[in-house]
Formats: sequence, C-alpha cells, structure tokens
Amino acid sequence: MAATVVWVALVCFHIVRCAPVSSSDDEFVFKTWMSQYNKSYSLDEYYRRLQIFTENKRRIEEHNAGGHSFTMGLNHFSDLTFTEFKKDFLLTEPQNCSATRGSHLHSSGPYPDAVDWRRRGNFVTPVKNQGRCGSCWTFSTTGCLESVTAIATGKLLELSEQQLIDCAQDFNNHGCMGGLPSQAFEYIKYTKGLMTEEDYPYKAHDDTCKFQPSMAAAFVDEVVNITSYDEMGMVDAVARLNPVSFAYEVTSDFVHYKDGVYSSTNCKNTTEFVNHAVLAAGYGEENGTLFWIVKNSWGTSWGKDGYFLIERGKNMCGLAACSSYPLPLV
Ligand SMILES: *[C@@H]1O[C@H](CO)[C@@H](O)[C@H](O)[C@H]1NC(C)=O
Ligand SMILES: *[C@@H]1O[C@H](CO)[C@@H](O)[C@H](O)[C@H]1NC(C)=O
Ligand SMILES: *[C@@H]1O[C@H](CO)[C@@H](O)[C@H](O)[C@H]1NC(C)=O
Ligand SMILES: *[C@@H]1O[C@H](CO)[C@@H](O)[C@H](O)[C@H]1NC(C)=O
Ligand SMILES: *[C@@H]1O[C@H](CO)[C@@H](O)[C@H](O)[C@H]1NC(C)=O
Repeated sequence: MAATVVWVALVCFHIVRCAPVSSSDDEFVFKTWMSQYNKSYSLDEYYRRLQIFTENKRRIEEHNAGGHSFTMGLNHFSDLTFTEFKKDFLLTEPQNCSATRGSHLHSSGPYPDAVDWRRRGNFVTPVKNQGRCGSCWTFSTTGCLESVTAIATGKLLELSEQQLIDCAQDFNNHGCMGGLPSQAFEYIKYTKGLMTEEDYPYKAHDDTCKFQPSMAAAFVDEVVNITSYDEMGMVDAVARLNPVSFAYEVTSDFVHYKDGVYSSTNCKNTTEFVNHAVLAAGYGEENGTLFWIVKNSWGTSWGKDGYFLIERGKNMCGLAACSSYPLPLV
C-alpha cells in the first residue's frame, strides 16, 4: 500500500498531466515489455515512458475492439509519442517526388490475382532495421535493387544503405534527414555502383563517404519512375517485372500495425505528405479487399514479421504518389 502511494505521488510529481494514471496492471505489462525489448530508463524517464506506454496500450485496445480491417499490437515504438516517432523515424520534410509523366511502360495485362516475390524464388532479402535514423528511403532503395539484381543475375546480395546515407547528397538526399528511392537510384547510376552491406555496413548515423568504386556490387542502368497516382502502373510493374519502391504517409494509427489490411482516413493522398518509403514485394486480394504486400525496415518484430498489408486500388495514404524502380546493369 505504502509503495502505491509513493508511486502515485511520483507519477504526479514527474509528469504534468496526471490522468489517466497507469494502473499496477499497466505497470506490470510495461515492465514485461521493457525486458522483451531491452529498454532501460532513468527514474524520471521511467514514469514518463510508462505514461506514454499506457496511452498507446489503451489506444491499441480500443482499436482492436472496434472491428477494423487491421489489428494493432505493442512493439518497440510503444514508449514513444507520435511526435517523437515522426522526428526520429520518418522523413521530416516534404519530398520532391511527383512524376507527372513516368517512363514505366504499361502492358495491357491481364495480371495474376496475387503476386509475392518472396515465393517466386530467392529474390527478397530478410527484413532489416533502420534504427533511429530517417533512412527508410535507403532501405526501400536497397530492397528494390537487391531484388532487381537477383532477378537478373540469380544472385541475391545484401546492399549498403550506409553508402546512400553518406554519399548520395548531390541527388537531393539528406542521409538520416531523408531522401527518395528515385533520387537514390539516380545517385547509384551516376556514381557507378553500390557496395554490399558487408563491405559498407550500416551505422544508423550520417558519416563521411567511403565508397570504393572497385568494390561496387550492384549497378543501375536506368531509373524508371511510375507516373504519380498510376497505381495500376505499380501493379503492372510488380506483376511482370520486380518489386517496386514507393512512399506514402505514415500517421499515428500505422505505428502499432500488427496484422490485417491497413486502411485509414487519417492520412492524406498527395505527394507533399509522404513521409516513409518502403518496398512493394507483392499484392493480393482477400475477403474482397485488394492489398499490397509491403516490406518495411523497422525490424522483424514489427508488424507481420516486418511486413504489412495496405489497401490497394485507392491510392491509400498517397502510396501511388511516387513509386519507382531501377533497371539493373549486369
Ligand atoms: C540490452 O541493452 C544493453 C544496454 O543498451 C546492451 O548493452 C545489451 O547488449 C542489450 N542486450 C540485448 C540482448 O540486446
Ligand atoms: C527539392 O528540390 C529542390 C531543387 O532541386 C531542392 O533545393 C530541395 O532541397 C529539394 N527538397 C528536398 C526535401 O530534397
Ligand atoms: C524520377 O523522379 C525523380 C524525382 O523523384 C527525378 O529527380 C528524376 O529525374 C526522375 N527520373 C526520370 C528518369 O524521370
Ligand atoms: C479474411 O477473413 C478471415 C475470416 O474473417 C480472417 O481470418 C482473415 O484474417 C481475413 N483476411 C484479411 C487479409 O483480412
Ligand atoms: C484524394 O482523395 C480525395 C477524396 O477522397 C479524392 O477526391 C482525390 O481524387 C484523391 N486524390 C488522389 C491524387 O488520389
């Protein structure tokens, strides 16, 4: 009893907003979560993070009781407010991503009902983790070039995000502050190659460029943009050619995505709002809902083993605003 009184007093002392106060059940879940995700805090920070965690947990429970097309779950972001999350993990500035006339050449179909490049062969590398750095665009880029190269050569290599963070500034990219796959493909084309993950490992912070041309392992011949909002162009490319990089807007209800088909009315659908880049590794349809199968870069404990499904055919959250892929040089 005495401990509870002290604890409540501490909560109210350390944080400005006292309600809703976390219950001892919440604190138990929080402590279990802390050990699962290896988190540790100073005493001050502990009560602040417990409060934020409790708010996130309540939101997740409310959402999951509400009959939505997707479920949410706790993950390694559950101690962050969305404002903190945006600052550390998303693109913070509007991107120059509109392609009014892309160079992707459409076929006229028909297309398979479902495509999954993970099942077509050894064409997709394991899910990676960008850490605390707005480098999603580099993972979308390597993911796409890894697949495109593997489809052309039969050899699946893991490629370097850090080279793009450190070296691709001349193409409007800004390291951990953001960038775009199309601009990263342009950089790789002009610098004549991208090194492997092993030779140029990931550090999750900006550093000086250490690209060695003699060690380049994958190459870009041409950059292909898909015309903005031509979502069927994305279907055409994914069905016939390869996975495709795209960007879209992440809003707070996406951060705790766990399963099902993500769909939201919170996000916007135009280029100026996109703040995250990922890789469309396939698509499908289930229960009458069309969706994309998407590889994210937030580790394998996030979402569906690091992947998510997002509604297809409605330019959901601007996902068709800026999509692109490279033609490999082999
Ligand atoms: C847990 O975190 C500590 C401190 O940040 C670190 O030294 C340790 O390697 C981590 N352990 C695991 C299993 O991630
Ligand atoms: C957009 O393009 C302009 C002109 O090339 C450049 O100055 C600006 O930094 C770019 N914005 C971003 C977010 O890269
Ligand atoms: C593709 O789009 C990017 C902007 O995201 C632009 O810089 C580039 O010139 C475009 N490339 C082609 C081949 O149209
Ligand atoms: C389709 O419906 C079934 C049964 O309700 C459900 O288990 C499954 O998760 C649904 N699929 C998707 C992709 O939402
Ligand atoms: C965005 O959504 C609005 C409202 O649903 C719709 O009218 C508009 O056509 C959409 N724009 C794009 C580019 O998808």
